[in-house]
Amino acid sequence: MRLFKHPLFLSILILVGLYVLFAHILNPPLPKSLLIQYMTICAVAILLVVTFDDKSAARFFAPIVALLGAPRLKFWRFLSFVGVVVGTGYLTYGFVKPVITSPLELRTVHPAPPSTLRVYGNSYNLLTLQNPYRELGDTSDEYAEIVAQGAELYYKNCIFCHGDMLDGTGHFADTFTPRPINFQDVGMIAQLQESFLFWRITTGGPGLPREGTPWASAMPVWSEILTEDEVWKIISFLYDYTGYEPRSWELEETTGEAPVADEQTAAIDALDADAVDAIYMKRCAQCHGEDGDGLGVAAEFMYPAPRDFTLGLFKYKTTDADSEFPSDADLHATIKNGLTGTAMPAWGDILSDAEIDALIEKIKEFGYWDGESPEDLGLNPIELGRPPAVTPELLARGREQFVKACVQCHGEEGRGNITSGKRLADDSETRIWPRNLTQPETWRVTMDAEDVFQRLSTGIPGTPMPEHATTMAIEDRWAIANYVMTLRENSVPLSEGESVIKAVRINGDLPMGYDDPLWDQAPAMTFNMAPNVIKEPRLFTSLNDMVTVRALYNGDDIVIRVDVDDRTYSVPGAELERQYALDDVTATRDAIAVQIPAALSGTNEKPYFRLGDSRNPVNLWYWAAPSVEPELAETAVIYDATGADNPMVARADSADLSAHGEWNNGRWSVVYRRALVTNAPEDLAFQEGVYTPIAFANWDGLAGEEGLRQSFTAWYWLLLEPDENPTRDWGFAIGAALLAGLLFIVLAMLARERVKQQKNV
Ligand code: HEC
Ligand code: HEC
Ligand code: HEC
Repeated sequence: MRLFKHPLFLSILILVGLYVLFAHILNPPLPKSLLIQYMTICAVAILLVVTFDDKSAARFFAPIVALLGAPRLKFWRFLSFVGVVVGTGYLTYGFVKPVITSPLELRTVHPAPPSTLRVYGNSYNLLTLQNPYRELGDTSDEYAEIVAQGAELYYKNCIFCHGDMLDGTGHFADTFTPRPINFQDVGMIAQLQESFLFWRITTGGPGLPREGTPWASAMPVWSEILTEDEVWKIISFLYDYTGYEPRSWELEETTGEAPVADEQTAAIDALDADAVDAIYMKRCAQCHGEDGDGLGVAAEFMYPAPRDFTLGLFKYKTTDADSEFPSDADLHATIKNGLTGTAMPAWGDILSDAEIDALIEKIKEFGYWDGESPEDLGLNPIELGRPPAVTPELLARGREQFVKACVQCHGEEGRGNITSGKRLADDSETRIWPRNLTQPETWRVTMDAEDVFQRLSTGIPGTPMPEHATTMAIEDRWAIANYVMTLRENSVPLSEGESVIKAVRINGDLPMGYDDPLWDQAPAMTFNMAPNVIKEPRLFTSLNDMVTVRALYNGDDIVIRVDVDDRTYSVPGAELERQYALDDVTATRDAIAVQIPAALSGTNEKPYFRLGDSRNPVNLWYWAAPSVEPELAETAVIYDATGADNPMVARADSADLSAHGEWNNGRWSVVYRRALVTNAPEDLAFQEGVYTPIAFANWDGLAGEEGLRQSFTAWYWLLLEPDENPTRDWGFAIGAALLAGLLFIVLAMLARERVKQQKNV
């Protein structure tokens, strides 16, 4: 116990305690430099206190002097010596080796609203503003009608991001950071006044104050698109659908707990026809239509379109090619898991298995095959045979068969670029594009080789994808299925959760072409793109949904390679372009752009992620494919943009930028090159070790996309990684270790003298 009272021990204890407090308990945590400062001040203060007079100082240092000087502690002294030398070297190395962390991006989800809001040419006091439809009373028929109109507006405008279950998982939700809000979350709209929602919906992302990171939010400015009445109708719908009560100024005590929807509890108790109808009308009819004809209010903006159940035709089934219908288990799986890459959501979290089964009976009624047993219908599962072992020979055979049976539609490398010259259409005469087999993220239901086997055996009914069960040996089908699973090696999977593109430093010349082996040194990142559903003129569907990026630099220039999987080569007038052109669309030139800020803000503030804003301009490196008719060469232009409402300005001289693109087997690869530092004051100067915001855009010429009709990404980071310099880092570390060792020896010699003196006294 004497030990605990010793000042040296106590001091160490206090310092450790303070460190834990500063580094681990304080929130937000102190930045590293401040932490070092705090700890130094505390250590000095403690030293001052314990060494205030000679006596206490002597007591404080006694154990140290003993350790350094006492002959009997020789072993411990040696151990401490090694500890000090190695420890100092290690710490110094950690200190000098450059570590780069991406800038902290804090965001307030519900920032304070302004007290007055100016929209629609009016000024609203948000403290008193009320939803005008509340006067109708929640239970009136008039109010129900308002909610129904709100639902329609919601399904036409909001589901792409907030999802048709209002849970923030819309089809394009993954593209955006921050993600769209989940209205079902008890912490969200249940805690808000309706006037708050009115503010957020009418002014969108750009209407947020700084702490809400307005530059990053994809939430559209709906006052540009919807009327005031329409916004209130949607707000009424949001509360009605989620079952929450809006928070009002009078009723501060509202808890915001989710009330149990009566309707749904009732449905689980007794799944009678009315209850099933109610679920269908609430959950499915907006897309599949009240009569199951696929003509719901939201259907218009969807590709692929929702299924018309009256045809009794289904794409994804494990029943054999002769069976007209899928099995109940197939339908159950589709409804439960949804169809990835389409608007069809996964219902597993919302609907019980019993409810899904009841809905299946309803779907059969629409298709006039209810009441018949699987035997009567002649439904048989696909024959699987014996799945073979995966060997190089099997894959080689798979490739051979793939070339014969699949390449004509799915392309040489599987990107879905039709090589047969046929304009494929589905049963409803809508143009259809074969799946990109290198991007499994976009597959609907297919997961593994067995699924591919089933898909290619029965084909995909209603589409041109044919069955192969009658035309191809079972062994060949297995060979193809396994080969198809290797096609993903031709692409870079989505970089989920990662946001930094690391540009690698090259000593010497940078690559000019996209196929230079130097590119292997650059880590590749793949990001989602979404069509511009944000601002008029809007675009709701697009065929190109991902972009893959790599970057390299040397002492002078930076090169960025951007790959976009694009099934169609839109070089107007070229033979390939004519082959696949859409009937009612005049093709434009395919184009791809890189967006960076014109200058770094020095804070976490960035320009608005779409084309910047009036205070924070951006540079666009715009590349467009050539054209045969009219005859035009490929284009590389720098545009200066200050927001979508202002025209982009092309530089009089874009010589600082060069860009060259090549289309190969369903993919554009464009290599941009610019000097790290240019003479133009509007250009950002790239610096090593500095995080630069970067975003990408794509115009698919096939669909006639131009201007704001484009697909784009959120902001990401580009980092020019400083060259590692191990000689320097280790040099510093060894130097510091030697110094510490020397100091230790000198101190030990002094301490020995002291100990000798003490003995002599
Ligand atoms: C392009 C995608 C997109 C579309 C379309 C979209 N939103 Fe949003 N919305 C977002 C994102 C992202 C956020 C979260 C960032 C923010 O708060 O601005 C958000 C936030 C909101 C919020 C704020 C909620 C809160 O708790 O603060 C409301 C309300 C909202 N959206 C309503 C709507 C409505 C109503 C529509 C349709 C008329 C709609 N949104 C369409 C992307 C979208
Ligand atoms: C937001 C729109 C939307 C909603 C809501 C929706 N679906 Fe779908 N559904 C689709 C789309 C789009 C497709 C077609 C996808 C395709 O062709 O690949 C589809 C396809 C289907 C299919 C056909 C699968 C096949 O193999 O062909 C079934 C069955 C289905 N939906 C059931 C339902 C049920 C049941 C509900 C309600 C619980 C529902 N859907 C709600 C959009 C929706
Ligand atoms: C005549 C053209 C055509 C041929 C030949 C063809 N496909 Fe397809 N394939 C398509 C189309 C079109 C789609 C997309 C259907 C849709 O979007 O609903 C598709 C989709 C697919 C899918 C996606 C399934 C999912 O869950 O998303 C796979 C896997 C597939 N095909 C594999 C093959 C294989 C393997 C072959 C060769 C044996 C092949 N296809 C031959 C046209 C074709």
